[in-house]
Amino acid sequence: MLNFTFQNPTRILFGQGQIAAIAREIPREQRVLITYGGGSIKQNGVYDQVMAALAGRTVVEFAGIEPNPTYETLMNAVRIVRDQNIDFLLAVGGGSVIDGTKFIAAAAPFQGEPWDILAKYAPIQSALPLGAVLTLPATGSEMNGGSVVTRRATQDKLAFIHPLVYPRFAVLDPTVTFTLPPRQIGNGVVDAYTHIMEQYLTYPVNAPVQDRFAEGLLLTLIEEGPKALAAPEDYDVRANIMWCATLALNGLIGAGVPGDWATHMIGHEITALHGLDHAQTLAIILPSVMTVKREPKRAKLLQYAERIWGLTTGSENERINTAIAKTREFFEQMGVHTYLRDYGIGADAVPALLAQLERHKMTALGEHQDIDLATSRRILELSVAA
Ligand code: NZQ
Ligand code: ZN
Repeated sequence: MLNFTFQNPTRILFGQGQIAAIAREIPREQRVLITYGGGSIKQNGVYDQVMAALAGRTVVEFAGIEPNPTYETLMNAVRIVRDQNIDFLLAVGGGSVIDGTKFIAAAAPFQGEPWDILAKYAPIQSALPLGAVLTLPATGSEMNGGSVVTRRATQDKLAFIHPLVYPRFAVLDPTVTFTLPPRQIGNGVVDAYTHIMEQYLTYPVNAPVQDRFAEGLLLTLIEEGPKALAAPEDYDVRANIMWCATLALNGLIGAGVPGDWATHMIGHEITALHGLDHAQTLAIILPSVMTVKREPKRAKLLQYAERIWGLTTGSENERINTAIAKTREFFEQMGVHTYLRDYGIGADAVPALLAQLERHKMTALGEHQDIDLATSRRILELSVAA
C-alpha cells in the first residue's frame, strides 16, 4: 500500500426527511445564500423543504447554475456574496451546483482574479463555509474538496481541489432523486462507476481493503443501477446508489492506491468543445483507455474480469476483451452511449481535442504518466465508432 493522509470533514445527513436537519447545521444568525440550478428543485418540493428548514433566517437566492457550471455565471453569485455580506453558502442540486458553489466560496474572499484559482492553481487562503443538499447521485462532490468549472468564452473546463471547500455537511435524502429523468440516472451511475474504476484499475500495490471496497461498490452499481431505471421510486435502490456514488469519490477508496484520471481529463475536453454530458464522455473514453492501456493494467484487468464479471475461463486476452465489452454493455444498459459517433461526432473532431489537451498540459496522464498526446490520439480514435 502507498503512504497516504486521509481526512474527510463532511458530516453526512442520510435518509428521508433529513433536509429539516440543516437548521441545526447552519448558525442561526448567519446570512445564507442558497444556490441552485435550472429549477428542478422547485418542481419536486426540495426548494420548499429547504426554505421551511431555514424559516426565520436571512436567506438570499442565486438560481441558474447550469450543468457544467460556468465562471461567467458563478461570478454573478460572487458579486452577491460580496455585496450582501453572505456568511454561508447552501448548494441545492447536483454536482454542477455543488461544484459551482465551491468556486463561489473560494472566489468571494479571493484577492485578484478568481479564474487564477483554476487556471494557475493560485493558492486559496480562505473560503466561505458551505453545505449541500444533494439531488443527483453522481459526482461525489457532496463529500470531497474538488470542483470543476468551465469558462465559456475560452472553452476551458478546469478543476481545483482544496481542503477548504469540502462541504461542512451534505444531506443525502434518496427520495429527492425520484424525479431524476432516466438520462440523469444513467449519467450518475456511469460517473460513479468510472470514479471507482479510475482508482481501482491501475496496478496492484497489495491493497486488498481498497480493492474489495471498490469491487463492492462496482457490483452494487451493476446490480442496483438498472433497477433505478425500471422502478424510479424504489427507496432502497435509490439509497444504495446514492451512498455508493458518495463513497466512490470521497477519498476513501483512493487512499493508498495509484489513480488514473485520464478518462476524466480527456472527457472534460469533449464536454468543453462539444457540450456532451460529463458521464457521456466517460462512457465513451473509459472502454478505450482499458483497451489501449491493457498491458500496464493487465493484472488489475484480470482481477476485474474475474471478480466483477465472473470470467475465469478462456485465455487472458479473451477475459480482458470480454470484461471491456461487458463494461460497455453496462453503460449502454444504463442508457449512456459509448461512441463519439452516437453523439454525431466523427474522427475529424480528434485534432481539436488533442490541441485542447496540449493547451491544458494534459500530456502525461494515467497512473504511469505515460498517456502522452500520441496515446490520447489512439484512445480518441478508438472511441469514434465500433
Ligand atoms: O439544474 P436543475 O434544474 O436542477 O436540473 C439538473 C440538471 O439539468 C438535473 N437534476 C438534478 N437533480 C435533479 C434533476 N432533475 C430532476 N430531479 C432531480 N432530483 O440534472 C441535470 C444535471 O445536473 P448536474 O449537476 O449538471 O449533473 P451532475 O451531478 O452529473 O454534475 C456534473 C458536473 O460535475 C462535475 C462534472 O464535470 C460536471 O461539471 N464533476 C465534479 C466532480 C467533483 N466535484 O468531484 C467529479 C466529477 O468527475 C465531475 O467531473
Ligand atoms: Zn466524474
